[in-house]
Amino acid sequence: MTKPVVAIVYHSGYGHTKVQAEAVLAGIREVSGVEGLLVQAEKVDEHWEQLDEAAAIIFGSPVYMGNVAAAFQTFAEKSSKRWFESKWRDKLAAGFVNSGSQNGDKVQALNALFTLSQQHGMIWVGLGLMPGNNNSAGSVNDLNRLGSFSGAFAQSNVDQGADIVPPEADQRTAAHLGKRVAEAALRWTRGA
Ligand SMILES: Cc1cc2nc3c(=O)[nH]c(=O)nc-3n(C[C@H](O)[C@H](O)[C@H](O)COP(=O)(O)O)c2cc1C
Repeated sequence: MTKPVVAIVYHSGYGHTKVQAEAVLAGIREVSGVEGLLVQAEKVDEHWEQLDEAAAIIFGSPVYMGNVAAAFQTFAEKSSKRWFESKWRDKLAAGFVNSGSQNGDKVQALNALFTLSQQHGMIWVGLGLMPGNNNSAGSVNDLNRLGSFSGAFAQSNVDQGADIVPPEADQRTAAHLGKRVAEAALRWTRGA
């Protein structure tokens, strides 16, 4: 039996969201019996068939001007060919976003990823974590330090390179999302 594939489609202009995407992939790879696939949005034309066969697709983008990056939206619009044929209906979906500011309108970008998944008739998997760093004993090193529920958030200081940020806590949060979706994909495809 072939392993269910959990794909990640992401854009990263300057490498920060790529670090987050790779952390999601590491989380997927923690789950045996599932295959991870990392796809740059710009190279999606090489991967449509793999995406059509995937059990889950996790979408990721930096926040540019309060929304997903244009390169990610180009992928989203190209995916309309899949939409016409309902090819992604009932696949699992999830999302992650990364911005320079602590808030930076990340929710707006994550909502764009959610809406894309719902246009395709996909099943959205949220983060499934309690918020970190929201009490007097909390710290910026907490898992889910940015307190998201619907997807994984990361914040990358704008004067630091992708070798330094997003911080380890945000990478752990991203890995948690990958692992959660991979575990859900195993359950979702059981008996299929
Ligand atoms: C064109 C552009 C627009 C941006 N808009 C926002 C924004 O709306 N909110 C924010 O917090 N950061 C914004 N940023 C900062 C990026 O989200 C941040 O630098 C992020 O880490 C970039 O990820 P990347 O290296 O994967 O491209 C913007 C950066 C660029 C280049």
